[in-house]
Amino acid sequence: MVIETSESSHGNVRIPTHVAIIMDGNGRWASQRGLPRLAGHKAGTENIRRILRRCVTVGIKYLTLYAFSTENWNRPQPEIAGLFQILAEVIEREAAELHREGVRVMHLGRADGVPRDLIRAVRRATDLTSQNCRLVLNIAWNYGGRAEIVDAVRRLVEKGLPPDRIDEDAISNNLYTAGQPNPDLVIRTAGEMRLSNFLIWQANYAEYYSTSTLWPDFGGDELMEAVRDYSARQRKFGRVVS
Ligand code: IPE
Ligand code: IPE
Ligand code: MG
Repeated sequence: MVIETSESSHGNVRIPTHVAIIMDGNGRWASQRGLPRLAGHKAGTENIRRILRRCVTVGIKYLTLYAFSTENWNRPQPEIAGLFQILAEVIEREAAELHREGVRVMHLGRADGVPRDLIRAVRRATDLTSQNCRLVLNIAWNYGGRAEIVDAVRRLVEKGLPPDRIDEDAISNNLYTAGQPNPDLVIRTAGEMRLSNFLIWQANYAEYYSTSTLWPDFGGDELMEAVRDYSARQRKFGRVVS
């Protein structure tokens, strides 16, 4: 099995190739201000731009953002509909600019059950940016780590792969992230310390970082704090390292 460790550096800080973020705390951000939860989702979605900009500046190559989980269908219907609307609007509005910046947009997740408008907006953005390679922006929505593994296994069965050819690479190559390096650093905002079904296959050797900062307040400087923390860690991948 290949473990990707190629990294660039920025000053004396090692820059992770792939950063994945569980953007949590929008609801708490809103209620602290006496605002409806959707105002928190709006502020959280606007925050993506500044984090993305910082990632481009320091040379992070893959940024994966958890926007809507398969479990988030259990939220009240108006919150779900509002979230999808915000997502569709932002993707429509930002696609051309992302394209100019050389960002490739990709969707991780299932299309089932998602409003047509959102699917169309995402398809337009992924098609428009498909040749870009400065940074890959994976938006994980209607995403579940277990659903992703189930989908990969279904694909392998459809392809008629015999049991002795089913190995870790076969599964990796049929995930939504096929061909991409595994995340090096997983950040979760809002103080929670759980994966909530995020990249459960790919993040098996990721470094984890949790901060109490709520997602709409998480800025570029704090991203760099997380990267510096990562940079000071020793990754061992099961080996003995002296
Ligand atoms: C994260 O913020 C966004 C989504 C899960 C869609 P939350 O909405 O989970 O915010 P909290 O956890 O209620 O503060
Ligand atoms: C995880 O956040 C999903 C996203 C950030 C999209 P949640 O707020 O839904 O996770 P739990 O329910 O606290 O584990
Ligand atoms: Mg939450």
